[in-house]
Amino acid sequence: MNPNILILGAPGAGKGTQSDNIVDEYGVDHVTTGDALRSNKGMDISHLGLAYDTPGEYMDKGELVPDEVVNEIVETALDEADGYVLDGYPRNLDQAEHLSAMTDLDVVLYLDVDEDVLVERLTGRRVCEECGATFHVDFDPPEQAGVCDECGGDLYQREDDSEETARERIRVYEDNTAPVVEFYDDRGELARVDGEQTPDEVWGDVSDAIETHA
Ligand code: AP5
Ligand code: MG
Repeated sequence: MNPNILILGAPGAGKGTQSDNIVDEYGVDHVTTGDALRSNKGMDISHLGLAYDTPGEYMDKGELVPDEVVNEIVETALDEADGYVLDGYPRNLDQAEHLSAMTDLDVVLYLDVDEDVLVERLTGRRVCEECGATFHVDFDPPEQAGVCDECGGDLYQREDDSEETARERIRVYEDNTAPVVEFYDDRGELARVDGEQTPDEVWGDVSDAIETHA
């Protein structure tokens, strides 16, 4: 049986970076609400009668997309997965309760990174528009600026990685998602990893934690 892994951490903590390693090592599905929503930014959710009519309007402001939309995405994806690494969910306590009713987790990882470091990581991130590989202009630069090392695709900057929106995302994280980290910590389920090390060092600690708990 493949492991069911949850990876928690602030925006820019390295969830996507380490999830890629987990997928390569364990062959699980990468279930990530951020990517799922980015692919569906223009989806019509006007029937919900909420503040905005598409996910993209929430995302570009750094706010959370409504639970009704996100819960359904996760439920479908987890149903189809044989082992997974879940990245970007749950982001508030209601989503955490919802997840508990949906599935059993083998490991809950938390990547611990200070806020000053997060902004630097987010504003310097570049993503391949073809294959989704992630780089950083200073910390993990591609061989040729603007070109993906993996597939030669063009690199772009995510719309929510401007300094202003990045800071708002971190604020939203502190208000809504930090309590989720406490929720798992209180239940004694949290494997805390120092996310300020190099990506390889973080991966060493992440894989150790998975081997210990799964
Ligand atoms: P989402 O896409 O989930 O964004 P996020 O949680 O803000 O996290 P990021 O993807 O920005 O960071 P990451 O931890 O994956 O970092 P990465 O590995 O790329 O969500 C986007 C939006 O969607 C939300 O704002 C919201 O609107 C909506 N949404 C999503 N889920 C939702 C939900 N459940 N409910 C409601 N709304 C939801 O690394 C960052 C950079 O750092 C990279 O450049 C990387 O190269 C570099 N880096 C990584 N590790 C290291 C290291 N160890 N040292 C140095 N640099 C490093
Ligand atoms: Mg990510």
